[in-house]
Parts: sequence; C-alpha cells; structure tokens
Amino acid sequence: MLKVHNINLSLGGLKILNDLSFEIEEGKITGLIGPNGAGKSTVFNVVTGLISFATGSVQLRKQDILGAPSYQVSRMGIMRTFQDAQVLPQISVLENLISASPLIRDASLFQVFFRPKMMERMKAEAAEKARELLKKVGIEEKSNVLAQDLSYGQSKLVEILKVFMSDAELVFLDEPFSGLYPEMIKVIKGLVYELIESGRTVVLVEHNMKLIEEVCDHVVVLDFGTKLAEGKFEEVRENKDVVNAYLGH
Ligand SMILES: Nc1ncnc2c1ncn2[C@@H]1O[C@H](COP(=O)(O)OP(=O)(O)O)[C@@H](O)[C@H]1O
Ligand SMILES: [Mg+2]
Repeated sequence: MLKVHNINLSLGGLKILNDLSFEIEEGKITGLIGPNGAGKSTVFNVVTGLISFATGSVQLRKQDILGAPSYQVSRMGIMRTFQDAQVLPQISVLENLISASPLIRDASLFQVFFRPKMMERMKAEAAEKARELLKKVGIEEKSNVLAQDLSYGQSKLVEILKVFMSDAELVFLDEPFSGLYPEMIKVIKGLVYELIESGRTVVLVEHNMKLIEEVCDHVVVLDFGTKLAEGKFEEVRENKDVVNAYLGH
C-alpha cells in the first residue's frame, strides 16, 4: 500500500534518516520501533507531509506523495496522530471530531458561503457520528467540553476518534498508548483493532514491546535513522543488531 524508498533527511546538518526503505502492507498493523531519537516520529512527519524536504520516494498505491503538503496527503487518505495528542484546544470535543469529517474538512469556500444549508446538514450528520463515537468509548458527557480541558488520556482518545470520523485508509499512530492507565490502554487497543476491522491499515509507534508483540503483524526497527531489521516480532527480537541497539541506549 505504501512504499518508502531510500529516504534521506538532514536537519540542522545532522543526518536524521539514512537510506530508509520499507513497505506497509494493506490491512495489517505494522510496528515502527526503535530507541528514543531513532527517527520514528520524523518518518511520520515525512510521510504525512509535515516535512517536505526529504529525498527519496514515498508512494501510496504507486502514486508519488513525497513533498505533497499535509492537507493533500490527508485528502489522499493518510492520517496520523501525534505523540503529544494534538487536539484543537479552544473548541469543543464535538467540534474537534466534526473537523475531521471529510465533508467538513474538504468543504470549499463556495460551499461555506453559498451553500449554508448543505453545510449545516453535513455538520449535523458529522455531529451525530461524533456523538455515537463518544458514547461508544464512554465520554459522551465531554462532547461540549473544550478540548483543552480534557485529561491527557482523553485527548489521546479523542485524537483516535478523529480517525474514525475521517475517511483515512492508512493511519499512523505515534505512541497512542504512552503514559496511559491500563484501562485506557485497553480501550485504545480495542480501537486499533477496530480500525483494522473497518478496512484501514495501521502503522504504530510504540515503546511497550509486549503491546507490539501482541498487536503487530510486522515490525520495522529503526536506530539512528537507519533500518536495523524487519520481520515478525519474534524474528526481529532475536536480531543481534536490534538487541545491541536497545542495550546500547
Ligand atoms: N525539528 C528538528 N530539528 C532538528 N532535529 C530534530 C528535529 N526533530 C527531530 N530532530 C532530531 O531527529 C532525531 C529523530 O527524532 P524523532 O523522529 O523525534 O525520534 P523518535 O520519534 O524515534 O524518538 C532526534 O535526534 C531528534 O533530536
Ligand atoms: Mg517520537
């Protein structure tokens, strides 16, 4: 589904990604793991258009996307969450979810100004879906709360619900479990599986190796921006370079 080929990236004179190549298979959960500073979040930034000056190629279903701005990348069906959940703080939880609906996200200025009724209808539709999602995870009472007033775990949860609001086919989750209580980890794990069941493909950055082992079909290991190994978790766990990278940090 996604082919990342020979990506190189330097920031401030430092090599951050080094001839990095890997592929993401459709319908699977791929883990991207490696020590802190290995370049995992940077890979997400490159693929989703937040960093535009990497060299190499990134293809989504054989279409070149490297260098495309992030709004175009999201229209092409790729969505990400952030290590430090990024919800829009000054608007309500419900509005945060609505903003991820493709109907609203991709509305043109023409529609906004000259088709107000249609916009209202689309917004109501999105709001209904958003309320259902909030109910499903048991935080429907938060729908009118400003996103800035959510707890850390709740904002991570809302960020993932935004993916369900979207039409994204390929989802990059940057440490969705980090810093969460066990109950919240369980809820989010359930949502990750639901993403797959709803026909989406998931790439997951996570430090908890138990979770990676449990959830991922395939694992890519990064260290200093270089791919050390890839394969099934049981295989890469035995890999000497991987063991050294983790022990050496
Ligand atoms: N904007 C930036 N400018 C300079 N260096 C950066 C920037 N963002 C990240 N880095 C560096 O890139 C490397 C990889 O970072 P990152 O992708 O965040 O790692 P990971 O997500 O694997 O912990 C780190 O050495 C980090 O310090
Ligand atoms: Mg990171």
